[in-house]
Amino acid sequence: MVLGGSGLVGSRVLDLWADDVELIAPTHAELDILDDRALTAFLTETQAPVVVNLAAWADVDGAEPERGNRDGRVYALNARYPARLASLCGELGKYLVHVSTDYVFDGTSLDRAYRESDSTGPLCWYAETKLEGEQGVLGSSAQACVARIEMPFSAQPHRKQHLARLCLARLGRGEPMVGVVDQRITPVFLDDAVRALGQISEARFTGTIHVAAAGWTTPYLFIRAIAARMGLSADLVTAETFADFAPKRPARRPQHSWLDVSCFEEHFGRDILRGPEAELDAWVEQVSAT
Ligand SMILES: NC(=O)c1ccc[n+]([C@@H]2O[C@H](COP(=O)([O-])OP(=O)(O)OC[C@H]3O[C@@H](n4cnc5c(N)ncnc54)[C@H](OP(=O)(O)O)[C@@H]3O)[C@@H](O)[C@H]2O)c1
Repeated sequence: MVLGGSGLVGSRVLDLWADDVELIAPTHAELDILDDRALTAFLTETQAPVVVNLAAWADVDGAEPERGNRDGRVYALNARYPARLASLCGELGKYLVHVSTDYVFDGTSLDRAYRESDSTGPLCWYAETKLEGEQGVLGSSAQACVARIEMPFSAQPHRKQHLARLCLARLGRGEPMVGVVDQRITPVFLDDAVRALGQISEARFTGTIHVAAAGWTTPYLFIRAIAARMGLSADLVTAETFADFAPKRPARRPQHSWLDVSCFEEHFGRDILRGPEAELDAWVEQVSAT
């Protein structure tokens, strides 16, 4: 059962898993996950042994006006609902994969990427509520996994924008782009993340696991790498420091929000999560084919 199947991540899960597994993916109109009675009834009635949750409030800046509001929608979707979902999964004997984010970290680690066991330190309301959601899931009786993903980028058109698509659109129109130079990131090619979630689900992995690129880049290098591959002008890309970039956004962001994927590699091998260069090769191949 996939919840949040119309979203950026969820829609690719549905695309890529449709041929291999029988999927139940209620739309928002069919199931409002914040309607407790409806959620309970849906889960109780379905035979699905595995629930993958991608439903969330995923707009980082849009969450900030609700900061501190535990009666608000952001808190309901990111903190209260995952705990309730996990509790239901526990009662019903269903395995749960709950997707979370690199933003649970404070981004001060320059020496090495964040491991699953590292201390968290959310900087914005989105991140605080996501962390609380993680805790609700892991504190439940469910057999459950929290999979933290980072900056998923996809070749498929979707209403939701991401850095790779934004870059393609802007540079394609000959517009300038600014990229942060002093920020370590591990953006994941969405198809790789979806394969990783598939492996996690099949193995019924429990606990927290990072699903990201197997190597770091910076936004500046990432944008220039796209420009080079797509034959777009890298001269349009200018460098900016994180200190200049960060204050322009409503929500505080972690600077070095890179994720260490060695736990994933230990359990599932090194074939699924790739370094940024190989990810972009695969992404460009798909973009060029569409
Ligand atoms: N995108 C990123 O850059 C990123 C980075 C790191 C982690 N993540 C995490 O990845 C997960 C998926 O993110 P995403 O980018 O795919 O999010 P998204 O595109 O905003 O999708 C969110 C999904 O939640 C559904 N939803 C929201 N409220 C609902 C409700 N009351 N009832 C039923 N469904 C509801 C939406 O359905 P409707 O649209 O039909 O309302 C949509 O399918 C989230 O947990 C997010 O925190 C995302």
